[in-house]
Amino acid sequence: MLLSRRIITLTAVLGFIVVVSFFTVKYDGHVALESAARSLTGQKKKPAFSTIQNVVYNRTRVQEEAKFAYVQYTTDLDYLCNAMINFSRLKEFNTKHQLALIYPDTWNSEGKSAVSARRFRIMNKIRTEYPHINLHPSPVLQLPNGDATWGASITKFHAFSLVGYTRVLAFDSDTLVLNNMDHYFEAPRAVLAVPRAYWLGDLRNTSLSINEQILGSHVMLLEPNTRRHDRIVKDAMDSGEFDMEVVNRLFKGSAMILPHRGLALLTGEFRSKDHSRYLVGEGEDGEDGEQWDAVAEVKRSFLVHFSDWPLPKPWMFHTDRQWRDALPSCEEAEKEEERRRKRRGRGEDDCPDKLVWRGFYEEYDQERRAKCGFIDE
Ligand SMILES: *[C@@H]1O[C@H](CO)[C@@H](O)[C@H](O)[C@H]1NC(C)=O
Ligand SMILES: *[C@@H]1O[C@H](CO)[C@@H](O)[C@H](O)[C@H]1NC(C)=O
Ligand SMILES: *[C@@H]1O[C@H](CO)[C@@H](O)[C@H](O)[C@H]1NC(C)=O
Repeated sequence: MLLSRRIITLTAVLGFIVVVSFFTVKYDGHVALESAARSLTGQKKKPAFSTIQNVVYNRTRVQEEAKFAYVQYTTDLDYLCNAMINFSRLKEFNTKHQLALIYPDTWNSEGKSAVSARRFRIMNKIRTEYPHINLHPSPVLQLPNGDATWGASITKFHAFSLVGYTRVLAFDSDTLVLNNMDHYFEAPRAVLAVPRAYWLGDLRNTSLSINEQILGSHVMLLEPNTRRHDRIVKDAMDSGEFDMEVVNRLFKGSAMILPHRGLALLTGEFRSKDHSRYLVGEGEDGEDGEQWDAVAEVKRSFLVHFSDWPLPKPWMFHTDRQWRDALPSCEEAEKEEERRRKRRGRGEDDCPDKLVWRGFYEEYDQERRAKCGFIDE
């Protein structure tokens, strides 16, 4: 009896506290929100809303409808072809987002030389025949040291100037699109999101601090902002550093890290026998069950970056010797298996690494023939 009376008293007291605090919080919240909203919107009148969802605040872009774009940038016609290939591949993979091309604004005038007339013609053709590609001519940066490689390297920061989009995914011009990447745009908001440069430093070393890890800059998911763009470009010009150094210096403490697996894949990975750096999250050489499987890796990846130095990039000339030297080697056991199949009249002296690697280059050649005729002619 005593017990139940105590329970009733306790319940009554608790109920009172809950009701009182509910009204207090609601009242305070209401007033605070209203006055905040009034000062943000500059309205004198009491606005007709009371929840944070309805606050109209025009100085941020938060409430705008999201507009996403894949960005490719080009400083010469080879890269323009690559961009066209990637755009068409993104379309084939059914992307829902915009396609944006950054190119030198000098290409918009006919000029006097045969080269500039040709570029002018090609850009006109893209404008009329590929209307779904948004064209963004941008001023060519005046380089203090005149180094063209360096100039091209900082051109990618122009992606920060595309304020017509809320978020863009910019990736290097020596990358082949392998899959639809639309889901990356749904990642939490961040000024910049990049994968780690897994091939630099040693991510297997658990003593390495986050600050010693190196960010890559060949894929950048970023929020365009004019002032940020100006600040980064100025920083790059003043320091004379390459894009990756600039990204690491300015964004190491704030960038969101995207997993490198599937996004920062290098073609060179298929020539390596040791994948422990690439598979670093999977335990000792993939002991968690995710071991290297060339075919599976391609199927689940989004981008692959042509990187087989000293073999030239796929749109450049290479000698047969350079090609043979670069071809991935097969393990003895794999070779034996292949020989057996070959004797049965099927397959070549191949293994998955070699087949997949060669496939990247063959696919590039096919794409180039199919999609860049109007540039190469
Ligand atoms: C502020 O945002 C609202 C809602 O998005 C819009 O209708 C209005 O035109 C904007 N006002 C200004 C001054 O931009
Ligand atoms: C697009 O894909 C091709 C391969 O098809 C690549 O070589 C090219 O550089 C990629 N990216 C850009 C921006 O051109
Ligand atoms: C691991 O990283 C730490 C911190 O940078 C470094 O001192 C150490 O030498 C590294 N170990 C190896 C095996 O590289």
